[in-house]
Amino acid sequence: MEFMPDSNDPGSNQEFYRIQKLPPYVFAVINEMKAKARAAQQDVIDLGMGNPDGATPRIIVNKMIEAARNPKNHRYSQSKGIPKLREEIVKRYKTSYGVDLDPGSEAIVTIGAKDSLAHLLFAVIGPGDAVVSPNPAYPIHQYGVIMAEGHACLLPMPTPAEFLERLKHLYKTSSRKPKLILISFPHNPTTMCVDLDFFREVVELAHEHGSMIVHDFAYADLCFDGYRAPSILQVPGAKEVAVEIYSMSKSFNMAGWRIGFCLGNSKMINALARIKSYLDYGVFQPLQIAAIIALRECAEDTKKICEVYRKRRDVLVTGLKRAGWPVESPRGSMFLWAPVPEPYRAGGSLEFAKLLMEKALVAVSPGIGFGPLGEGHVRFALVENEQRIRQATKSIKAFLK
Ligand SMILES: Cc1ncc(COP(=O)(O)O)c(C=O)c1O
Repeated sequence: MEFMPDSNDPGSNQEFYRIQKLPPYVFAVINEMKAKARAAQQDVIDLGMGNPDGATPRIIVNKMIEAARNPKNHRYSQSKGIPKLREEIVKRYKTSYGVDLDPGSEAIVTIGAKDSLAHLLFAVIGPGDAVVSPNPAYPIHQYGVIMAEGHACLLPMPTPAEFLERLKHLYKTSSRKPKLILISFPHNPTTMCVDLDFFREVVELAHEHGSMIVHDFAYADLCFDGYRAPSILQVPGAKEVAVEIYSMSKSFNMAGWRIGFCLGNSKMINALARIKSYLDYGVFQPLQIAAIIALRECAEDTKKICEVYRKRRDVLVTGLKRAGWPVESPRGSMFLWAPVPEPYRAGGSLEFAKLLMEKALVAVSPGIGFGPLGEGHVRFALVENEQRIRQATKSIKAFLK
């Protein structure tokens, strides 16, 4: 899920040092249109924000309720997470990826992936440190660096292979070597996926040049058609340079709960733990206890969640094709990244998204909202049911005619 600022914010904070570096979210424009249409009783099909619409599995909710009844769980928890939960995520990495991690020093619980990302960057990046990441990207990948006063170096990613080539070129030619490489696959918004060889090369580069790596693995479990997303920590020696961020939001429909992990390199984990020890007292303990149950007992639920997205993806791809808008079918994530149809391309992705909203009552995210290199595309999030997605493609067909 992305952060959407209050669209009524008068922007009076512009003089503040950090705030002035954070432009208002482009997505707010579409949000405002959506709110107006809904206020006028119009039925908007909202494929804009990546906000999962499914319920958290009942067993997790029940555990949370049970734990919340126990006064012992009402106190401050531990900022790095309770040991049993850290042990559980470590077990999962062992069974899913064959990766060995020490729950004491190589795993920390965070308030979702966003907390991990923002505070890790804050912990390990100093003024002017270069952080290289593909663009377009999830906004915090760029603005987390800017907030930490680093230098956000955006590399185009028409394909992961080309990103890698550009990264190698950057290492050869730039006087400012990247201090950190920030990547995320399956990728939001482009839906691109990689195999373990890609990570091998990135890890090798980081070793060679003394860089760190952060891999945001928010869509770890949303993979289709037999594809299985690798963990960067599967690469031998990855732990010496890399951390991976795992989120409960998408895999278990727990977006609102705010829980995730940062795993791998102990020095980076330790830095994040230090920052977090000043900032928070950890996630509400009943929630951490419920997350143990999720990791331990809900593998089948994750498969079902994934299958829901797969079916929606198919309906959307087929429907758009029928509407004369052919798009590639993604192998991972919960999105579809679609090039703006030719007749509308010159107007830009924001204008096209506004048109879709106005004429077809379908909300999508304009590519420009994910950075300058996102222009020319819009992103559909698969967060409405199949019937409504089918309806959306019919409205789009009528509009494109
Ligand atoms: C790439 C990426 N990272 C992180 C997040 C946020 O995850 P969490 O809910 O765990 O903070 C999202 C959510 O949309 C995302 O797309």
